Amino acid sequence: MALPIFAPVPELDEDAYDRMAKDVRTLLGIDLSQYKPAQVWRRVNGFATARGLADADALVARAGQDAALRQAFLDMLTINVSEFFRNPEAWDILVAQYLKPMLLGQLSIRIWSAGCSLGYEPFTIAMLAREIAPHTPVHILATDLDDTVLSRARSGVYTEAQMAGVSPSRRTRFFRQVDKNWEARPELQAMITWQRHDLLRDPYERPFDIICCRNVVIYFTEAAKTEMYKRFCESLRVGGVLFLGATESIPNVRAVGLTPSGLTFYKRP
Ligand SMILES: C[S@@+](CC[C@H](N)C(=O)[O-])C[C@H]1O[C@@H](n2cnc3c(N)ncnc32)[C@H](O)[C@@H]1O
Repeated sequence: MALPIFAPVPELDEDAYDRMAKDVRTLLGIDLSQYKPAQVWRRVNGFATARGLADADALVARAGQDAALRQAFLDMLTINVSEFFRNPEAWDILVAQYLKPMLLGQLSIRIWSAGCSLGYEPFTIAMLAREIAPHTPVHILATDLDDTVLSRARSGVYTEAQMAGVSPSRRTRFFRQVDKNWEARPELQAMITWQRHDLLRDPYERPFDIICCRNVVIYFTEAAKTEMYKRFCESLRVGGVLFLGATESIPNVRAVGLTPSGLTFYKRP
């Protein structure tokens, strides 16, 4: 029986990595100095091989000429997979412990969805907020590094497959069907401001009652994450909450000024 052939995992070549990081900054506007090199290197080489290119140098050279490959390269580096109500049990906790008390106890609230990808997260927040308090003003800032996902998010249009996490009653209430797709109603759209923003380079707005930053920092270095969590803390109002992805946590939480408040939630004391 023939044995399966596995492509070898490439060793990190620091010179080639530095060269690629410099080109990626010019080509895609991403600063890889704050990403974990070994993981990025493995992904980039896997991506190059899958496209029949010899290595990272060949990939960068081809991406300079080919806009579609450039976009696929950016999508691969930023990983923009997402869905509505991702990890529903975490959203249940957000609603019960934070969103509902805030909406019922305040005149208005401000929420930041940082790394919002195709907009599933800000629209999820908008739906939940409208269900709890139909008339309380809710301002959602939705940001991402990637202009392409942002412009698709801004359109508010999703295919049937992308709508998998949205129940029939929520579809009827918050979306309208346009041909085979679903479009978020103006009521939701009006709650969201879309903005390009790089968490590693741009200034952070403030204050927010809730900041969601979920499944964004997977490839950031520990130092970059710590700096980012400190800046999130400064951007939260006192008593505000940071909501992370289901598998994420902050190891040095007190050093960044936050206190744990249940799994994947952190409060500014
Ligand atoms: C996996 S998606 C997460 C989407 C959503 N938060 C969720 O949990 O489903 C990661 C998103 O983070 C964005 N991203 C990656 N690096 C970023 C950075 N430095 N600044 C802002 N957004 C970034 C990517 O473009 C991508 O859309």
